[in-house]
Amino acid sequence: MSGTSLDGIDVVLGDVGAAGPVVKGSLHLPLASDLRAELLALNQQGNDELRRAALAANELTRSYAAGVCALLADCEVHADAITAIGCHGQTVRHEPAAGYTIQLMNGALLAELTGIDVVCDFRSRDVAAGGQGAPLVPAFHHAIFSGGAVHRVIVNIGGISNVTDLPSSGPVTGFDCGPGNVLLDAWAQRHTGQPFDRDGAWGKSGRVLPELLQRLLAAEYFQRLPPKSAGRQTFGMDWLSCALIGREEAADVQATLMELTARTIADAACRLSPQTGEVYLCGGGARNVALSDALACAVAPRKLATTDVLGVSAEHVEALAFAWLAGEACAGRSANLPAVTGAHGPRILGALYRA
Ligand SMILES: Nc1ncnc2c1ncn2[C@@H]1O[C@H](COP(=O)(O)OP(=O)(O)OP(=O)(O)O)[C@@H](O)[C@H]1O
Ligand SMILES: [Mg+2]
Repeated sequence: MSGTSLDGIDVVLGDVGAAGPVVKGSLHLPLASDLRAELLALNQQGNDELRRAALAANELTRSYAAGVCALLADCEVHADAITAIGCHGQTVRHEPAAGYTIQLMNGALLAELTGIDVVCDFRSRDVAAGGQGAPLVPAFHHAIFSGGAVHRVIVNIGGISNVTDLPSSGPVTGFDCGPGNVLLDAWAQRHTGQPFDRDGAWGKSGRVLPELLQRLLAAEYFQRLPPKSAGRQTFGMDWLSCALIGREEAADVQATLMELTARTIADAACRLSPQTGEVYLCGGGARNVALSDALACAVAPRKLATTDVLGVSAEHVEALAFAWLAGEACAGRSANLPAVTGAHGPRILGALYRA
C-alpha cells in the first residue's frame, strides 16, 4: 500500500483465510525522494506524462518488490507460500465522473520480480460500473471490525479521510469525508521543512482562525451527499490558497487545518450517524496526538480509540485491507459495496497477473 500522503510503502504479510484477517509481519519503506517528487508532479498535467508515468510506475514497482522480498525474508516465508500480492498502486489521478481513476504500478513487473500472483487495479471496475471506485475499505472494515450490538464508525486518516459506518443492523455505508494528512503535511513542509507535523505539536502552538475555518467549511464537497470520493485534486494547496488572505500566521493556518480535519471527520462520524457508540481511528493520522485529542472532544461522549485495541495496528489497516481485497478477488467474490461507491451492482475487483 502506498497512499495519497506519499509517505512511503506499507507492506504487510496477512493471513486472510479462515483464521484471519490478521497481520503476520510488516515493514515500512520510505519512498526515495526523487521518486516521491516525480509521483507528486504526476498528480498534475505536465510534459511527456505517458513516458514519465511508465518509468515512475516501474521504479515504484521495484520498490514494492524489494519491500515484499525483504518482508518475506524477515518472516522466513517462501514466495511459494503466498497466494497473492494485493497492490493498490499510487493514485495520480482520480476522476470517476470522467470515467477513470489511475493508480500507477506495473502488475506484470511485480509478478516477474517476486514470482507471486499479483492482484492490482482494484478501483477501475467499480468506476466502470458507474461507481466512485472509492472508498473500497468499508467492506473490509465490515469483515473485521463489526461491533455486534454496538454501532461503530471506523475512520481512516490517510492523505484523505474516509469513514465507514458499521451499524448494529442495516447496511454498511461510507465515504471520503474530507482532507486527512495531505494539507497538514504540505503546509508543514512549506513552513517548517519537515515532511509532517509530528504529533500535531506545531499546529497545537497556533490558534484556530474562525473566519478561515468557515471559508474552508463552505466548500461544496462538505455539503454534497455521498457517494463521494476525493483526492489531491479536491483538497490540494490550490484549494487552501484560494481561502487564505495572506496575512495569517503559518502556525495558525496549521491549527485551523487540524480543526477542519477534526470537525469534518466528527461530523461524518456522528452527525450523519447519531447512533454511533464507538469511533476507531486508523491510518497514519491516528498517530497525530493533537488531532486525535481534538477528535476525542468533537465526538464526546462517544468512545474514541485507535484500531490497535481491535487487534490491528492503525498503520497496518489499509495494507491488510488490500491483502483481503486480493483474497476476495482470488476467490471470485465481489468486494465493492454499491451503497458506498454508487456502482450499479456488486463487482469482482482487480486485475490478476499470474506469477
Ligand atoms: N506521529 C505523527 N504525527 C502526525 N502525523 C503523523 C504521525 N505519524 C504519521 N502521521 C501522518 O500519517 C501520514 C501517513 O499516513 P498513511 O500512510 O495512513 O497515509 P496514506 O499513505 O495517504 O494512506 P491512504 O491510502 O489512506 O491515503 C504521514 O504523512 C503523516 O501525515
Ligand atoms: Mg502511507
